[in-house]
Amino acid sequence: MATMLKLDTRPLSPAIGAEIRGLDLARPFDAPTLALVRQAWLDHAILLFRDQKLTLDQQVAFATQFGTVGERSRPPERRPEGVDFHPAIMLISNIRENGKPIGSLPDGEMWFHHDMSYVEAPYRGTMLYAIELPSVGGNTKFANMYKAYDSLTARTKERIRGLKAMHVYDYGTAEQVGRDVDLSKVKHHAQSIAITHPLSGRKALYVNRLMTLWIEGMAAKESDRLLSELFDAAEDPSVYYEHVWRVGDLMMWDNWCSTHARTDFPAHERRLLRRCTITGQPLHE
Ligand code: SIN
Repeated sequence: MATMLKLDTRPLSPAIGAEIRGLDLARPFDAPTLALVRQAWLDHAILLFRDQKLTLDQQVAFATQFGTVGERSRPPERRPEGVDFHPAIMLISNIRENGKPIGSLPDGEMWFHHDMSYVEAPYRGTMLYAIELPSVGGNTKFANMYKAYDSLTARTKERIRGLKAMHVYDYGTAEQVGRDVDLSKVKHHAQSIAITHPLSGRKALYVNRLMTLWIEGMAAKESDRLLSELFDAAEDPSVYYEHVWRVGDLMMWDNWCSTHARTDFPAHERRLLRRCTITGQPLHE
């Protein structure tokens, strides 16, 4: 691939994201191009590359250019005909064989969340590649958590300083688990409510409606009230972009400063995307 001196970059929305045109992700970038894409990722938080044709190995090779690729700790899903197994790839799909989903996160709407905020070292990033899509819905919304933090009043910023909130996820459900959850049975981790992005140095809100259950050391009612205010800021239409997928889209997102959510889609229509992750590090205020 010829060296790019400047990327062909177009904003996806006023809130977040950019599309980069003219790059073929099936082939490794040269060093200057990779440096530009890395910087663009840091600047825009989510990057879209359209019209890509990627084998599973090419998708993993692309991801490897940005860090250590995360491997699945759970048993792999059953793959449909023609979709090979790779430990670094998760299928996001509602397709079923013998009544069982071939992939993870199969059906319908998903609330806003960071990937893996319930572990000590949340993923740096996620890359999702669209293979089959429903005729309507199944869009993914991406929210800018720098903007969400910036939108808080000075009083709220002061109030959340030094506070941590508990993030919990139960693989058995795509919904928020309740406060009465038995923490010994689910993955969980308390994270700072506002984190400093390790690479940009910018402050980002780090709570999400799906996985953040309570604020540590705060009475339940007060915690619910404050979280509700923070979730509203994190989901304000001014901070998110809704992506309508096309087959061949690869979207990569910075999981430390953005959240994402999925809109509902018809259960009888097939949806298949391949997901790859970049491992992360503990996050701090
Ligand atoms: C995810 O949360 O990783 C899945 C997003 C989607 O299916 O659009």
